[in-house]
Amino acid sequence: MLRFVTAGESHGQALVAWISGLPAGVPVDLDFVQRELHRRQLGYGRGGRQRIEKDAADFLAGVRHGHTIGAPIAVRIENRDWANWEKALPVEDTEGAEDAQRPLTAPRPGHADLAGALKFNFHDARYVLERASARETAARVAAGSLAKLLLREFGVRVLSHTVGVGHARLEREATWDEIVAICDNLESPLRCVDSDAEAKMKAEVDRALRTGDSVGGVFEVVAHGVPPGLGSHAQWDEKLDARLARAVMSIQAVKAVELGAGVANAASYGSEVQDEIRYDAGAKRFARSSNRAGGLEGGITNGQDVVLRGYLKPISTLRRPLLTADLKTKEAVKAAYERSDVCVVPAGGVAGEAMVALGLGGAFVEKFGGDSMKETRRNFEGYARQLEQF
Ligand SMILES: Cc1cc2nc3c(=O)[nH]c(=O)nc-3n(C[C@H](O)[C@H](O)[C@H](O)COP(=O)(O)O)c2cc1C
Repeated sequence: MLRFVTAGESHGQALVAWISGLPAGVPVDLDFVQRELHRRQLGYGRGGRQRIEKDAADFLAGVRHGHTIGAPIAVRIENRDWANWEKALPVEDTEGAEDAQRPLTAPRPGHADLAGALKFNFHDARYVLERASARETAARVAAGSLAKLLLREFGVRVLSHTVGVGHARLEREATWDEIVAICDNLESPLRCVDSDAEAKMKAEVDRALRTGDSVGGVFEVVAHGVPPGLGSHAQWDEKLDARLARAVMSIQAVKAVELGAGVANAASYGSEVQDEIRYDAGAKRFARSSNRAGGLEGGITNGQDVVLRGYLKPISTLRRPLLTADLKTKEAVKAAYERSDVCVVPAGGVAGEAMVALGLGGAFVEKFGGDSMKETRRNFEGYARQLEQF
């Protein structure tokens, strides 16, 4: 079983990810992990924090001589901003620490501030927002990069691109080659494969920047080279569509998840929706000419690309804040503002890739098992032969 959890506050010393269940012998390309962390920090409309943080993965356990060793892996990502927060959020209860705490008592509508303050009985939402913050996705991306490195060994790649920002949309399908190219281009402002659509998306961000607002959007994660047969129809909690949807929904500010053309499909006739099946004798595999199902049928991968979309709400910290009620005085006040992003769609996509890679990686380890890569590979190759001879 592939498991992972994270720890860390947005302005604490560091974020930590703990990952367990990868076979021994997965090559850990540190430059790749580094590049993934860097990709999460990019995107037009990010706030000042990205200028401070230069995320770097520090492996504390589970990786030796460039390979996993079958032991739990611990990764640490330092928060450079900690230097500015040490007095506000010390571990020890030092003299004067409470005065320096930078309390947040005007909860932002849409953030975790009020719900968390009520739940944990805080009259200051600082501790809540510190953990709710999507800075945590840096730890997920570190964990996800390890799942990607496992999948890469078997020809599976997981990437993402932006299909919507505010009202602007990518109005056509993107090819896999286009997605690869746009992900290789670290200069791309919003990681959209179409420059006209991207110009409109940028205009949406500019409008939000100008007016002190924020803007949401849609990212699409595509997993390419996925073998058929991951996940299962047999039990509700084994269905990989449900597991991946949960994984993507867990990303901060994602409020809807779509598999393939799921939303449009619901308003179409069956004959317009299902992907017809043929047999490609040359490639010795079943094939389709469309992929409206998004690569999953019955909760099982069907050999097509796995395609999920994450719908992000506009983030809740606004330079022109909405009204709220103060946690202490209960009086009407303007919601708190602190340095914030305005648009996070490309970064959300990178977090989406990590979550999909972890979900697929988990299903992969369940199917092909293996304490060592040798064993996993043997099982995988045996299954590939079985498919060829089907
Ligand atoms: C990559 C990324 C960056 C984010 N940055 C911010 C931010 O700077 N300010 C903010 O208010 N929310 C930001 N969010 C969203 C909040 O973390 C999120 O809305 C909050 O934790 C409440 O959770 P919920 O929206 O999932 O209910 C970001 C989300 C993502 C995916």
